[in-house]
Amino acid sequence: MLLKIARTTALVALTACALNAADFNAQAEKDRLALIKYFEAKFENPLKNRSTFFPYSTDDELKNNIMSGLKFEDFSKGNYSFSKNGRMSYDEIKEFPPYEEFVENGEALYSKAFANGKSFKDCFPDPSVAGSAYPYFDEKKKEVMTLTVAINQCLTSNGEKAWNPKKGKIAHLEAYFVQEAQDAEKKIDVKIESKEAEEAYNRGKEYYYTQRGYLNLSCAECHVQGAGQRVRNESLSPFLGQVTHFPVYRLKWGAADANNDGLGTLERRMSGCVKDQGQVPPKYDAKEMKELLFFMAYMSNGMKIDGPDIRK
Ligand code: HEC
Repeated sequence: MLLKIARTTALVALTACALNAADFNAQAEKDRLALIKYFEAKFENPLKNRSTFFPYSTDDELKNNIMSGLKFEDFSKGNYSFSKNGRMSYDEIKEFPPYEEFVENGEALYSKAFANGKSFKDCFPDPSVAGSAYPYFDEKKKEVMTLTVAINQCLTSNGEKAWNPKKGKIAHLEAYFVQEAQDAEKKIDVKIESKEAEEAYNRGKEYYYTQRGYLNLSCAECHVQGAGQRVRNESLSPFLGQVTHFPVYRLKWGAADANNDGLGTLERRMSGCVKDQGQVPPKYDAKEMKELLFFMAYMSNGMKIDGPDIRK
């Protein structure tokens, strides 16, 4: 009898412990599942559910352009996941992807020796882990670590200069990392295992849902409620899957100037959207930027890594 009680107590203690560990991401999991449910419902039958989800879209748009029956994994393709017109040119460009040379260059950068003889291999022994294991919450430093920040820290801790966090070499190296992660069939896998990680997630979430700028719009108004609608000549991409494919090659970035090869990091894209809101974006290594990215990545948990990619 005593033994039985002891065993039961031990079991209860164990369960309580397991519950506590899982607890830190309980709200995040609820948010994530609700988001998936929202997007699957929204794109199940856009024409039929127009009054709920697409009150501002035209008949032509709903009948001829927006696809229906989309499921979880489909959303990693941004606005090409639902736009028939966009998807055609996307598929054409993907046959000869313009970023292939960047992936090769990234691979060369990965093994190139620093002045001290070390290389990125010492910081990231497995390049495919680098593509999928970031961002993560560093439980010792109590802060979010992103891939872009980790790459620059690798450089500076080896006596090299940090790189521009938005384009150029960093984007090439990340293109190689993400290609490796895709080849290894990695998925987004962000963990929230402490109170502090949960708080970081919450602050990122608050940023995403806060209205700001002269239009007084939040990220969510465009990329959750607005996803699938048009803004000028762009369709708004769904929040779900927004981080699965970076860096991306953008036609717009490629045309910007001769020194710009068109490839950009997730931070570059996020900063662009903050600027469009009429705000000054936080620096790539600022707490706000890292926590926003952490939140965004969590919300795409379980999705396949699918980069690099192309966008308009
Ligand atoms: C006024 C509407 C608007 C707001 C507000 C907005 N964006 Fe965007 N965003 C766009 C448009 C337009 C694009 C380009 C088309 C697309 O991919 O959605 C875009 C693209 C993106 C992409 C690239 C998606 C992909 O698949 O390549 C990311 C990531 C992104 N936005 C993040 C954000 C974040 C984070 C915020 C808030 C800080 C934000 N956006 C606020 C309009 C908006």
